[in-house]
Order: sequence, then structure tokens, then C-alpha cells
Amino acid sequence: MQIRFSDRRPDGDFTLVVLAASTDAEAVTGAGGELKDALVRRRFDGEAGTLVEHFTGGRRMLAVGTGKTVDGASIEKVGGAIVAHLLTSGETAAVVDLDGVACDADTAARLAAAMEMRSWRYDRYRTRLKDKQKVSLNEITIVGSAGDAEQRYNDRWKPVVEGVALTREVVTEPANIIYPETFVDRVRASVEGSGLEIEVLDGAAMAELGMGALLGVAQGSVRDPRLLIMRWNGGADGAAPTAFVGKGVTFDTGGISIKPAAGMEMMKWDMGGAGAVVGAMKTVALRKAKANIVGICGLVENMPDGNAQRPGDVVTTMSGQTVEVINTDAEGRLVLGDAITYAIRTYKPSIIIDLATLTGAILISLGHEYAGLFANDDRLAEQLTAAGKETGDQLWRMPMADSFDRLIDSPIADMKNVGPREGGSITAAQFIKRFVENGVRWAHIDMAGKAWGDKAGPTHEKGATGFGVRLLDRYVEDVLER
Ligand code: BES
Ligand code: MN
Ligand code: ZN
Repeated sequence: MQIRFSDRRPDGDFTLVVLAASTDAEAVTGAGGELKDALVRRRFDGEAGTLVEHFTGGRRMLAVGTGKTVDGASIEKVGGAIVAHLLTSGETAAVVDLDGVACDADTAARLAAAMEMRSWRYDRYRTRLKDKQKVSLNEITIVGSAGDAEQRYNDRWKPVVEGVALTREVVTEPANIIYPETFVDRVRASVEGSGLEIEVLDGAAMAELGMGALLGVAQGSVRDPRLLIMRWNGGADGAAPTAFVGKGVTFDTGGISIKPAAGMEMMKWDMGGAGAVVGAMKTVALRKAKANIVGICGLVENMPDGNAQRPGDVVTTMSGQTVEVINTDAEGRLVLGDAITYAIRTYKPSIIIDLATLTGAILISLGHEYAGLFANDDRLAEQLTAAGKETGDQLWRMPMADSFDRLIDSPIADMKNVGPREGGSITAAQFIKRFVENGVRWAHIDMAGKAWGDKAGPTHEKGATGFGVRLLDRYVEDVLER
């Protein structure tokens, strides 16, 4: 999509989009009486993201509701609604006229970002699309924003669009295309020139380090695992970094504790946590955030071949703690445990935030509206919750307690990898907590209900949402860069 910012409407043919808080003719700038009548007759009330289409004088016009006030959240609904309506409409150009709407440079730039994000699609494997299924809209001009919206877009919002696009791409790709090795290749190519430092460990290197839990998951697959490390050093020299750690199970069959066939294809997006981490790292690098951040992705495929680990196996983690693997389908916590130990031992971070499509139980608790947030630190939890509210990547805090921790004690090893069915997301978090050493402030985000959407949202089509990128990016801006 070509996005332009301009002082006046261009010449030529385009769909004209005007924003309206109500059906008040004054509010619908340039609409004329005819559009006003159309709005009234369609019961248009200006609710954010609602839309009325009208043809007049040979031109397609859209009136889009902004809600009572134009703020970040409502402008994203507006942008999303415009693009959802026009993307395959046959129309190639649109002009969004902000004249008469109080829209500062940041809000106008955010509108542009929302439109870009909503237009993201992945048609690589759709070779027989009919013309009317193909994207037609390729140019949007935003007219009449205050200040330097273009500058603001390029500096602050385009990096977000690009980070989110990377996340969606790796989440969308099937598991025969994206597996640990190719995940790394894809990310490397995508972040080239961004200034991110990249390091990669293969299975042999992880064996040297004693990462027996991560390797136990990987051993049933012909795909060699990887640990992907991305560093962004935009902060003070030598200041302790913040670590983002992502679960990157490129496919989760469940292993020997195999999953039922129905819906198993969804487990191609079991690397959504790692996807969020790489997208966020790309974003903070492109906008040159003033913070030291290390992104670490534990990349494995969980398969049930003849060499796969068995229920009851005991593995030794990099931390030295042992784990009885009761259920090979509870693999994400095994991967995260070793990745977190590696993060702590290697980079001595002051804060760790891990993201994972970890448990089906979090879907039972929170549905698709919120990701579950677990933390050993109230302030960190509050800061992340606030970043979620600002960006729409919403979090809801869940409890942790010693009484839950006891549920994963094992008779043969230091812990087992599953507790009872009840409270399954919490015992999973308690498991991960056992790897958080040295008083590191830590948060765990269980995003099993958020990586993939069965319905479109304001800024995404059905499918990969890009959840987590904006959350982490905003946390960096609001907390780490201050
Ligand atoms: N990747 C799954 C969790 C998941 C389920 C993500 C549904 C998205 C949608 C995870 O590895 C898993 O299999 N968890 C098990 C844990 C259980 C064996 C304790 C689960 O949630 O059933
Ligand atoms: Mn699993
Ligand atoms: Zn999994």
C-alpha cells in the first residue's frame, strides 16, 4: 500500500472518505446534503468504525464514524473499517479527508498504520484467485492532518507496521516451510540492515550447554532445533538488558502424547510467542529505541518419531534442575525453561518477559479477548497491563502461589511438567517461574488465545494477528526508554 500525506485532495479518480462523529451535516465535511440524507436513512450514528457508502456525481464516498472523540483506539477502528471495505472493492485509490476532525500528527500517523496493518494479507499460495478476490486498493492519501504526520509515521509507526508484518508472516507460514532453521533464515533476511545483532545456536551447541529440556522436545523431530538470539543495544553502554523470550514450537503434534487430529493444523502457530519477539525486535530496531534489549527464541518441532521422548522420561535442564516429562504435549514450558536459564546466565537481564502459546486452559479462562499475564512483580504487571490497554494487545493478570507450585512436585525428579487439569495455565506459569533465578523481575504472557483470530479485528484480517509486537514495543517506549 502506498500511503501519502498531503495538504489538499489530489486530482483524478478516487474514493473520498470523510469522518463523522454524528450525522450532523457540519461534521461531514464536504459531504453535501445528499450524503447527509443517506446517513440519516441508514441510521448512521457515528459509532467508531461504522461506515456508510454512497455514490454521488460518479464518485464513491464513504462516511466513517469516529465515535464521540477521535483517539488512538477509535482512529484504528476507522482505518480498519476503511481498508476492510475498500481493499478488494475494485477501487484503486482512496483519499481520507481529515478536515474538520481534530486529528494531531500522531493520530493521523496511527490512522495510516492501522490501514497498513488491516491491508496485510498472505496470498503466496493462492495461485487461482479470481480478479474480484484480488487486492485493488493500492494508494491512500491522508489529507488535512495537523503537524508533520508523515514524519511521525515514518519514525514511529512504520516500524510497528513492519514488525507486525514479520510476525504475521512467520505465524502464517505452514510448518513444512517454517521450521527452526528456516525461521531463523526468514527472520535474518527480514531484519537485514536494521542494526540487530544476531546469534544462533544449533542442537549441538545447546547440548554443550546442557539444555536437556529443550533438546528432549526436539529429539522426536528430524528438524534440528535452534536458539535465536537478537540483540538491540540502543541504551546506555553496559546497562543490564531486558530479555524477551519466545516459545517457538514450529509445529506441536503433542509428541508421543499426541493431539487429536481435528484442528491439529492450528499448531503451526505454536511459535506465536517467538513470532512476537522477532517482530518486536524488528520494530524497536527500526525506530532506534533507546534501550538494551535481547530477544531469545527457543525453536523446536514437537514430533513423535522413534527417537521421541516418552512420558516418564527425566531430563536435566540447563539450570541443573531435573524434570519428569509426564506429558510430552506440555512442551512449551520445557523449551522456555532452558531459554530463560540461557538468557539469565548469558545476558544477566534485569527483567524477563516471556511470551508463549502455552496452554489451552488460558482459552477457557479468558477466551480470545485477553492474554493471561503472570508476574513476580506488581509494577511490571501494571506496566505491561497499561501497554496492553494502549495498544489493544490486552492482558489480564492471573494469580500465582506456592499452593499451585506444590502441584508440580514429582516423586522422582525436581518437578513434573504438568499438574492437574484444573488451573492448568497457572501450574504452567509456576513451572516457568522455577527457572527465574537471582531475583530477576519476570512476567509470563500466555497468548494461546491471541496469536490467531478466527474473526477479523480492527487491524487484522482473519488469521495471524501479530499479537505482542505492539505490546512489547509500547512497553519499551513507556518504561524502558524513560
Ligand atoms: N501449544 C499447546 C497449547 C495450545 C492449545 C495453544 C490450544 C493454542 C491452542 C501446548 O503445547 C499444549 O499442548 N498444552 C497442553 C498442556 C497440557 C498437556 C498440560 C494443553 O493446553 O492441553
Ligand atoms: Mn503441546
Ligand atoms: Zn505447544
